[in-house]
Amino acid sequence: MIRPSVLGYARMGLAITLSLFVFSCTSISQTGNAPVTYDANTRVFRMDAAGVTYVLGVNEHEQVQTLYWGKRLSPGDAFPAARSPRGYSAFDLPITLTQHEFVGWGGGIVLEPDLKITFPDGNRDLALKYVSSSIKENKLNIVMKDISREVYVTLHYAMDAETGIVRRSAEIENRSDAAFTIEQAAAGTYNLPRGTDYHLHFLTGRWAAEWSVQDEAIRGGKIVLESRRGTTGSQNIPFFVIDRDISKDQEQGDAYFGALAWSGSWQISIEQDALQQVHITGGLNAFDFGYRLKKGERIETPEFLAGFSSQGIGGASRLMHRLEIDSIVPNAPNPRLRPVIYNSWEATTFHLDEAGQVALAEKAASIGVERFVMDDGWFGQRMNDRAGLGDWYVNKEKFPHGLKPLIYKVHSLGMEFGLWVEPEMVNADSDLYRNHPDWILNFPGRPHTEGRNQMVLNLARPDVRAYVMSFLNKLLAENEIDFLKWDYNRNWSEPGWSDVPLEDQKDVYYDFTKNFYSILEELRSKHPKLEIESCSGGGSRVDLGVMRYTDQDWPSDNTNPVDRLVIQNGFTYPYSPGLMVAWVTDSSNLPNRLALPLEFRFLSSMQGALGVGANLNKYTPEDFAVAKRLIAQYKTLRETIQRGLLYRLIPPEDGSERSATEYVSRDGKQVVVFAFLHSSIERYPYPTLKLRGLDEDAVYKLEAFEGKATNGVPATASGSYWMNRGLDVNMNGDFQAAGFTLTKVAALK
Ligand code: GLA
Repeated sequence: MIRPSVLGYARMGLAITLSLFVFSCTSISQTGNAPVTYDANTRVFRMDAAGVTYVLGVNEHEQVQTLYWGKRLSPGDAFPAARSPRGYSAFDLPITLTQHEFVGWGGGIVLEPDLKITFPDGNRDLALKYVSSSIKENKLNIVMKDISREVYVTLHYAMDAETGIVRRSAEIENRSDAAFTIEQAAAGTYNLPRGTDYHLHFLTGRWAAEWSVQDEAIRGGKIVLESRRGTTGSQNIPFFVIDRDISKDQEQGDAYFGALAWSGSWQISIEQDALQQVHITGGLNAFDFGYRLKKGERIETPEFLAGFSSQGIGGASRLMHRLEIDSIVPNAPNPRLRPVIYNSWEATTFHLDEAGQVALAEKAASIGVERFVMDDGWFGQRMNDRAGLGDWYVNKEKFPHGLKPLIYKVHSLGMEFGLWVEPEMVNADSDLYRNHPDWILNFPGRPHTEGRNQMVLNLARPDVRAYVMSFLNKLLAENEIDFLKWDYNRNWSEPGWSDVPLEDQKDVYYDFTKNFYSILEELRSKHPKLEIESCSGGGSRVDLGVMRYTDQDWPSDNTNPVDRLVIQNGFTYPYSPGLMVAWVTDSSNLPNRLALPLEFRFLSSMQGALGVGANLNKYTPEDFAVAKRLIAQYKTLRETIQRGLLYRLIPPEDGSERSATEYVSRDGKQVVVFAFLHSSIERYPYPTLKLRGLDEDAVYKLEAFEGKATNGVPATASGSYWMNRGLDVNMNGDFQAAGFTLTKVAALK
């Protein structure tokens, strides 16, 4: 066994920097990470930030073990060295009951491992032991190694100084002489203190009904959230939040939460062991997975981020939102506020031409739209969804002079120009497929499944990556395109990659996603002003991984504003309203013939990054006036909505007829409240909205920008009044919406 002595480190030739930091409650590092402390006597590592403390140590078996994760402790609280627990029975050995930070599949472990490897000689036993650690720029790196094989794993940790969210990943390195196959790889495991009353909240969905909030008691056994689809998917979202079974109030109690930064197949398993300890392991999906790591190669797992809030699920969401805006999205911590967009899809579908788009653009500009986006249908022989994907040249019948005249017109109207693309896909009816039938994911000699008449290109292939990169780069170099809506409209099927050696073929799961990211990264560096939206037939590719390269996300193709209240509510569990694109459309008139007031539709969409997707050719002068007024209003509120603290006052869950949200600006000066009523029953009044997050001792002035407060509601009152007495809203009937602002006008004397 390798002993963790300093001499040992030196012999192994590893660069060891064990820096000791003095803990300070207030210090925020330049890197944005909280300091890590290390106690060499006990071999205990500790991170503290915001309201959170995370402690881990090395036990007597040289395993890395969680010692504490939860509410922030006093700096003076010391932890003894980690000790592995005793076994419970011959069936539940110590290795299975230890709260490992990262464990290989080997020995007698029966719980979900973090890493499983098959070696060329058939050995599948992996026993990782602590070797060394280093702390650099407030990042902790812990090196582990198998007891005999030259497999090294470096665990990376950083705690975000503002939110206390821990960011983890694992780097696996093959220093042996032969390749081995990784069959399962997680970023690591988070362990919860023992408890029998944990409740898991998670998100499920399908096309046009993404982001449904679910909850389930955590009992013995395992709950697996996952995608086997090749990309993120909406059946499950790579996010969890776990609270205790004490309160239905979103703002109460302790909540542990986490999310994976990965846009390929993923899994998060939540497992309660024989001692009622809960282990949460997240990373690449193990199903059908294999990654051949050759001699000298290393691979890094996706990041698995997790945090703690003592302000319930609402607090967990706010910490996630803050991290996304301040640390994850491009240009963080100062990403641009989302412009108001117009999108042509629901108005014109595939029936695009220059004159029609110009007519829409002129109307969009007249109501205050800032970015005009032309959707599907402008390229190849794309008359419908049966042809054209893959052929990224401008369709000459629709745009005889190319895109330039339209782009010029849009720019001269004072708007940015955006364009829809779906780069990873191909229709059978396309020149690309006719020339390169071998470029799709498939198994030779087997049928290939189509979805929406299209197939998935194997982006793991270097030639496919080069093709996608070059057509996008050319499109952007030749046209002044400010924004791409990057779509992806089906799952993988038959994920074969036959032109690489048999043992490398399953690398496709990892390499596809890596190439997707690298294209986004390269495009952004070549075209620094470009912004990108992640769309996947609605919200099937929204995750912290793609968020590093994209500025906004499309949550759902379902733009019915009533359904959207539910969809948007779920979206905001993990993700910021400032990233959530929400169009005002006419679609509510289509499937169920709801003639919803335009004001209701606008207020529903104003809760995120506002857009318009209606057919403006059909708008009446009154509609234009409403649209213009509410877009102008939105611009005065958007910083608070997109960057502020969100309180889901009444979540539209469990069949609630009502929903209400509140946003408090970061500086605390502006508060925005939206209230919606689906249909009133038996003339009951709307529930009093008890606001949250205000300064008790300040005075706030109430103004309605849509709808009314009940007679007698004061025009100004203290934060304490609004939070305890609350705001009464005058709403009755069907499909009503109201919007208010509260402005901090003074501190109480
Ligand atoms: C997907 C997107 C829609 C639209 C269509 C175009 O469904 O989610 O917004 O872009 O494709 O085909």
